[in-house]
Amino acid sequence: MKPLTANELRKKFIDFFVSKGHVQISGASVIPENDPTVLFTTAGMHPLVPYILGQPHPAGKRLTDYQKCIRTKDIDNVGDPHHLTCFEMLGNWSLGDYFKKEMIPWSYEFLTKELGIDPEKLSVTVFEGEEGIPRDEESAEIWHRCGIPYERIYFMPREDNWWGPAGETGPCGPDTEMFIDTGRPKCGPDCKPGCGCGKYFEVWNDVLMGYRKTKEGTFVEMDRKCIDTGMGIERTVAILQGKKSVYETEVMQPILKKIGELAGVTYGQDEKTDVSMRIIADHIRTSTFILGDQRGVSPSNVGQGYILRRLIRRAVRNGRHLGIEGAFLAKVAEVVIDMYGEPYPELIQNKDRVYTELTAEENKFSETLEKGEKQFDKMTYFLEKQGVKEIAGGSAFKLYDTYGFPIELTKELAAEKGFTVDVKGFEEAFAKHQELSRTAMAGDFKSGLGDHSEETTALHTATHMLQAALRQVLGNEVGQKGSNITPERLRFDFTYHEKMTPEQIKQVEDIVNEQIGKDLKVTVETMSPDEAVKKGAIAFFSSKYGDQVTVYSIGDFSKEVCAGPHVTHTGDMGHFHILKEESSSAGVRRIKAVLEK
Ligand code: ALA
Repeated sequence: MKPLTANELRKKFIDFFVSKGHVQISGASVIPENDPTVLFTTAGMHPLVPYILGQPHPAGKRLTDYQKCIRTKDIDNVGDPHHLTCFEMLGNWSLGDYFKKEMIPWSYEFLTKELGIDPEKLSVTVFEGEEGIPRDEESAEIWHRCGIPYERIYFMPREDNWWGPAGETGPCGPDTEMFIDTGRPKCGPDCKPGCGCGKYFEVWNDVLMGYRKTKEGTFVEMDRKCIDTGMGIERTVAILQGKKSVYETEVMQPILKKIGELAGVTYGQDEKTDVSMRIIADHIRTSTFILGDQRGVSPSNVGQGYILRRLIRRAVRNGRHLGIEGAFLAKVAEVVIDMYGEPYPELIQNKDRVYTELTAEENKFSETLEKGEKQFDKMTYFLEKQGVKEIAGGSAFKLYDTYGFPIELTKELAAEKGFTVDVKGFEEAFAKHQELSRTAMAGDFKSGLGDHSEETTALHTATHMLQAALRQVLGNEVGQKGSNITPERLRFDFTYHEKMTPEQIKQVEDIVNEQIGKDLKVTVETMSPDEAVKKGAIAFFSSKYGDQVTVYSIGDFSKEVCAGPHVTHTGDMGHFHILKEESSSAGVRRIKAVLEK
């Protein structure tokens, strides 16, 4: 059987599960909508959490899809032949419908019949059990009946055979994982599936969702059992095609080829060149998915925007290593969009944004990169002379503040020269800087709320609602830059890269008015800054903020760290109307709005 390509595998998987009574649903955004504890969608089940927990899904109880996922834990390892920050996950779900008895035989059928994998090369793992959670003899028996001999069924502990939750809380459970033997020798007598040596390659994971992790960290058994499976497309095609690495497959080759053309080099000739090529290929592929997403964000210094900035800046630096001159990222992104425009039409819809934002960030960083590298070389030269091998926090902060070097980039540069970085010192310098600008901002804020009349209080609540609505309409690039309130009107400055359209302004007004109409309750809680961030509160601080902060919530619509005061419920705030939207300074927009009674 001819090994499948990524496009063929995607189709085959979906068709198989449709033939088993599943409905194909569309994958979701890579920016999670309801889970502030993680930056990106990391698995196909992530957008389905509410349905796994019991909410009925409009498409029924058997679902299948392909989902773009981003995992950023290993960004710094990208460059080796194996790591990727963006991948596609195939999945199928039973929402309280079938369970192991159906799922395991389907997995066996798909792997051996549809993908043509030799059953002799398959091994599986199942959960060995622990106090309160039984050993999964049942799955082992089902696998055995399918045709896997007992010696290739391994019982493993929680570290290996438990999946989830995707964020801090939510559904999770024991799983059963499928491995292909690559035929390489065992690395030692204990080598078995799950061993990192590369002999056994995981292709699929069937999670037997039966538990829910609570905020307190306990696991509660769910009455209704669900199935959640995940198969990574890139990895699977690499193994099916007998390739040593994803970068050798048709998923990455066209991107590497383009980079090669731009740099005048060929992949596979020189390891150092290959590392830079893989970094650019992976990072621009991921950046294209983030920028081209239906909820795309722009590069910034916080959250998803910061990850995006790191990816782009690291790609730019590696482009310079390869000797590419001038802006090139958009040309690489073009190849990505060509390849993925069909399964992900949002990439085509948003392609102008992808190119513009990539190029803008690239140009911005190119201006300072060279100067920053010179500064860095100077620093290390003098330190070296003094026999010091650590870059001080203040110096790392200067590279960040003046030359736009993310701390991770400084760490990477330092490591290349055998230096370490005082990251704690960097964080302190960062915090001090934030503290200063925050004090300035707090001054602004106070003056805006000098009088605590009913009018200013209502306008203050409206400001929070405006920010939440702006983020819904324009994305998370929006962040408060300043606010000034008089009894007559509010003025709100926020980060955003272009003029809003009349439609967007209308949409924002409508959202705010709709929420006002719901007569939402406004509540206040006190918590640590960490907890506030975990709960998804908007806050314009990134480190020190004192021990406790107050967080104001307006129903489920808005949550912000703030000192108040606010109305107690939104019902009689009046009608929200935007008078004006204009530029305030580069990259900052200003809105003036009123509440009409
Ligand atoms: N949610 C499971 C995974 O990501 C299937 O592996």
